[in-house]
Amino acid sequence: MSKPRLEGKEALITGAASGIGEEAARLFIKHGAAVVVADIQDELAYQVISSINSEKVSYYQCDVKDEKQVAAPVNYAVEKYGSLDILFSNAGIFGPLTSVLDLDMKRFDNTLAVNVRGVAATIKHAGGAMVERTIKGSIICTASVAAWIGGAGPQAYSASKHAVVGLAKAACSELGRYGIRVNCVSPAGLATSMAFKAFGQTQSEVEASSCATANLKGVVLTTVGILG
Ligand SMILES: NC(=O)c1ccc[n+]([C@@H]2O[C@H](COP(=O)([O-])OP(=O)(O)OC[C@H]3O[C@@H](n4cnc5c(N)ncnc54)[C@H](O)[C@@H]3O)[C@@H](O)[C@H]2O)c1
Repeated sequence: MSKPRLEGKEALITGAASGIGEEAARLFIKHGAAVVVADIQDELAYQVISSINSEKVSYYQCDVKDEKQVAAPVNYAVEKYGSLDILFSNAGIFGPLTSVLDLDMKRFDNTLAVNVRGVAATIKHAGGAMVERTIKGSIICTASVAAWIGGAGPQAYSASKHAVVGLAKAACSELGRYGIRVNCVSPAGLATSMAFKAFGQTQSEVEASSCATANLKGVVLTTVGILG
């Protein structure tokens, strides 16, 4: 039998208490990685790690807006497992669902603080740990269809996801020389708690409206569909 693809790899996943990050944690563990789940939702995160039920998964509370809180789980992962091979910088919020004409600038700033500053800080600290230990790691950031198509998300969200693609491009041009890969995934709409909260819709309503605007017809995008 072949060795699991991620055996011996250590991963840090932000925003892993729910949705895409949660499913990524399950998948990484299934493929043999050790995973540090980083999030702000303690209760949900503990439910996730206890349902994964593996010695290889642990939770570290981390608000990605705060650089010190980002440095801490990176250090924790390195101390606990002796390495950090994978960063999945996935934590994000949808931000205000308003027209540009009604933009609340404080909420705009907050969206950028989570979605852009947060990703920049995770790349800085996880990338730094990889470079220091000459680890040829992999950094994956969650952007969005809203990084590519106008109107797929509100102002702050779209701006932030364009910036995530920019951060990843800039980081890969720098970190590639150390053998570190930096990539983005850009999912279309899918039914996670982010979408439920933003639109106040049920799972089937989110799926119906996402499918209506998606290019790829005949499939319903799910967290498992992105990662599995
Ligand atoms: N659901 C979609 O339709 C969709 C589409 C494209 C991209 N995305 C992106 O996918 C990523 C994951 O979102 P999801 O759909 O799984 O939503 P989700 O709400 O289920 O998960 C997001 C997670 O990020 C965490 N988080 C939020 N702010 C944080 C902070 N400051 N620090 C640490 N963690 C924080 C939340 O607690 C939550 O667990 C986001 O970056 C989102 O923008 C989602």
